[in-house]
Amino acid sequence: MAAIVGIIGGSGVYDLPGLENVSERRVETPWGAPSDALRFGEIAGTKAVFLPRHGRGHALSPSGINYRANIDALKRAGVTDIVSISACGSFKSELYPGLFVLVDQFVDRTFGRQSSFFGNGCVAHVSLAHPVAPRLSARVLEAAEKENIPCVAGGTYVCMEGPQFSSYAESLTYKAAGYDVIGMTALPEAKLAREAEISYATVAMVTDFDCWHPEHDNVDVAAVIAVVRKNAEAASRLLSRLLRDFPKEHEPCPVGSDRALDNAILTAPEA
Ligand code: ADE
Repeated sequence: MAAIVGIIGGSGVYDLPGLENVSERRVETPWGAPSDALRFGEIAGTKAVFLPRHGRGHALSPSGINYRANIDALKRAGVTDIVSISACGSFKSELYPGLFVLVDQFVDRTFGRQSSFFGNGCVAHVSLAHPVAPRLSARVLEAAEKENIPCVAGGTYVCMEGPQFSSYAESLTYKAAGYDVIGMTALPEAKLAREAEISYATVAMVTDFDCWHPEHDNVDVAAVIAVVRKNAEAASRLLSRLLRDFPKEHEPCPVGSDRALDNAILTAPEA
């Protein structure tokens, strides 16, 4: 199967510079419209499809994003692997603003998201024990190392509903629980990508220390955007390198993300 890489851009990442032979298409899915038009293109022969998670102009809030439409649209475009970029707060002094963290675990604190393609009529339970595709994540780390971009592998991302940032008590609770970073968007994507049998990895770009750190201001949007702007060029360089070095054939995922439905569907075909 030919590899096609889907890139989901987060806050401040609304485009993928360096994409060649670009064409844009607005698509519809059975779940509704994705966040924006899909941008098709390639870098060094690797096919890619870019989608800005919040839409260009950032009109969609984390709870208002149609995650199902986004992942469905990428699946229909033939995407085999998704790399997303998301801004996040940090619960560890050593995970400083500007650092990229390749998280490998998630904790779900959302309550208002549609994050499954399945329901009554077709019941399925996929494994989410390892929500991130390790080989894909390792490729992202390799690309960061080649580009001298500070990046660490591993970490737990707690996904909150938002749109308000956490209270001080919540921030201390997450820190005490040992979580590494917090954001509002990456987990519905990871769940849906798994159900769609697409390998998923996410680059959590640390933008702030949330509100637990005695020596740092409480997070606000201006601080998040300032860090994202400063690091947007590094994010683009990382993605370009990833695509340039990407294998042309999809590599089977060691945790089975590309065959997640093999043992997941309970509903009888004739039901
Ligand atoms: N995105 C960026 N920083 C964040 C934070 N502190 N909490 C939740 N989402 C974020």
